[in-house]
Amino acid sequence: MHLLDTLELNLKTLDAQGLRRRRRIADSPCAAQMTVDGRRVTGFASNDYLGLAAHPLLVQALAEGAARYGAGSGGSHLLGGHSRAHVQLEEDLASFAGGFVDKPRALYFSTGYMANLATLTTLAGRGTAIFSDALNHASLIDGARLSRAEVQIYPHADAAALGALLEASSAAHKLIVSDTVFSMDGDIAPLAALLALAEKHGAWLVLDDAHGFGVLGPQGRGALAQAALRSPHLVLIGTLGKAAGVSGAFVAAHETVIEWLVQRARPYIFTTASVPAAAHAVSASLKLIGSAEGDARRAHLQTLIARTRAMLHTTPWQPVDSATAVQPLIIGSNEATLEVAAAFDAADLWVPAIRPPTVPVGTSRLRISLSAGHSHEDLDQLEAALSQVSQVSRLNPNRSAA
Ligand SMILES: Cc1ncc(COP(=O)(O)O)c(C=O)c1O
Repeated sequence: MHLLDTLELNLKTLDAQGLRRRRRIADSPCAAQMTVDGRRVTGFASNDYLGLAAHPLLVQALAEGAARYGAGSGGSHLLGGHSRAHVQLEEDLASFAGGFVDKPRALYFSTGYMANLATLTTLAGRGTAIFSDALNHASLIDGARLSRAEVQIYPHADAAALGALLEASSAAHKLIVSDTVFSMDGDIAPLAALLALAEKHGAWLVLDDAHGFGVLGPQGRGALAQAALRSPHLVLIGTLGKAAGVSGAFVAAHETVIEWLVQRARPYIFTTASVPAAAHAVSASLKLIGSAEGDARRAHLQTLIARTRAMLHTTPWQPVDSATAVQPLIIGSNEATLEVAAAFDAADLWVPAIRPPTVPVGTSRLRISLSAGHSHEDLDQLEAALSQVSQVSRLNPNRSAA
């Protein structure tokens, strides 16, 4: 069959399965109240957990960075694109997030996806076994595949099962890989147990703190700081387009690990360095995250999390018990999830429907993402819509079962 015919058929199959994605268009900054597809909505779709994406100080820092360094970097980091803004940010990141290791160093990447590919393909290869949590983010999965290491998947957050796999492995090098906060579930990996297993079995522990950095731990230093863990065998990845409100990501580790990434990580070497102004704005963001204002934003976020968590337990659907800003509500089928999302949309709320392959088949869900930019009035609106949708018998699992 002609390629176009095949693709058209595939797209029709996505439609029939309720799996076709549609991109919404924002005409305003990412914030609690946004203009999306020409309408004002209250947004629960972003990862802007601290509400910094449109913060005046960061917008100003971006403009200042552009005035100082221009619009583009002009080249890759090893061939002319490495600017003072990148250097400064890496120093700031090492001191802000590198407290888990002696001699920390950090490397700034254009995206978290690339940071994860870089870390796994450079630290693992043939002869390495990667032990990967079943619910890890796609970028970790892809990095593990691309590394050509042997990949063993352990049941979600199951330290005992992981221990058994490590025990049975005769691989020369071992890497345990996990999200800290799971992106579609909001739960936190058993970090202390993972590190204890790594130390016991001579493995390294690679953690992706995309959804913890800026939110968890003292001054928002992340999940490792919250758990007060330290080890030379830890590698931490954090993303900077979520709580930090800008873009990019970092890998922090012992300086030798980072130097090896600079020398060998293909997703770092063979790509144009990110816009220096973005690095300049992230440096400003780190100051905000670690400030009293950052503390106040995290405290407000905690009150929103506690209220939402309680609210979701009163619905007929299955919440995932999450103590973080990611508050999922599992609906089940794609069709019902899309219908519930459409009902929210009709109430001027933007709550995205998450479907396979992002989550396992049969566990489609709404992902309610909270931000310090939300007010309690925003949650009143969410609560009212939830109670209205629960009245629709077709969508209420308790009533439709009766
Ligand atoms: C757990 C996790 N890791 C990595 C990424 C990728 O980060 P980025 O958006 O900066 O590419 C994401 C989401 O985008 C994520 O949820």
